[in-house]
Amino acid sequence: MSTQSNSDRPAKVTTQTLQEMKERGEKISMLTAYDYTMATIIDQAGIDVILVGDSASNVMAGYETTVPMTMDHMIYHASCVVRGAEKALVVADLPFMSYQVTTEEALRNAGRMMKEAGAHAVKLEGGKPVAKTVAKIVEAGIPVMGHLGLTPQSIYKFGTYKVRAKEEEEAHQLIKDAQKLEEAGCFALVLEKIPAKLAKEVNQELSIPTIGIGAGSHCDGQVLVTHDMLGLNKEFKPRFLRRYADMYTDMTESVQQYIADIKSGDFPNENEQYS
Ligand code: KIV
Repeated sequence: MSTQSNSDRPAKVTTQTLQEMKERGEKISMLTAYDYTMATIIDQAGIDVILVGDSASNVMAGYETTVPMTMDHMIYHASCVVRGAEKALVVADLPFMSYQVTTEEALRNAGRMMKEAGAHAVKLEGGKPVAKTVAKIVEAGIPVMGHLGLTPQSIYKFGTYKVRAKEEEEAHQLIKDAQKLEEAGCFALVLEKIPAKLAKEVNQELSIPTIGIGAGSHCDGQVLVTHDMLGLNKEFKPRFLRRYADMYTDMTESVQQYIADIKSGDFPNENEQYS
């Protein structure tokens, strides 16, 4: 097991750090967080990047898709995470329809994420259609992470969460979109649920780091939803997910033990009360 922790790392992770990591072939680790406690744990464990993903919609709020998330929701989650992250780079998702209507609105919302939440960068989904917007946000001094492949905000267009870009036409378009995003100034690119071979090709075409989720081992880094890799939900078991704990079972057993201890009169005992 890797033993990197916060004390081993010299300073705060920046977008430049990630570029340098790519250049020296050091893999980038990224996990999601939506709250202060989780951010503190994964930051102190030594994670490079914390993503305040709009997957908060599913994980925190219990919605089926990421579509309902608003700027106010995301700013709240991002501000909690920023307070818990000492060294990791904190990237916050811009939610659905906060950047698609006009470039001006996108810029205003990216600015809100930086000023009100204290995020270090924003992430948005899509290729060529958002490239001008990306350029405008970057021009204003806000780092942007791109996201291609399975882009969950477009679930109603795709109709399915299956692997994207298996066909040549979509794969070709994805490579062009990745190039457009790099030209527009993205500092990194998430590739979600695409064939490993295609992710390798994208990685070869770009000079910015790629971060994969269900995109194979050739990306410069990997991201998972923390709740999934900790096994906090029982049902979600996609092929790409590696579970590092079974916290659903651990938490259930702890809660059951607590209930049993109350019912039996075992809790609280002599040492757990005041005289
Ligand atoms: O919202 C999210 O958690 C994400 C990751 C899955 C990349 O976008």
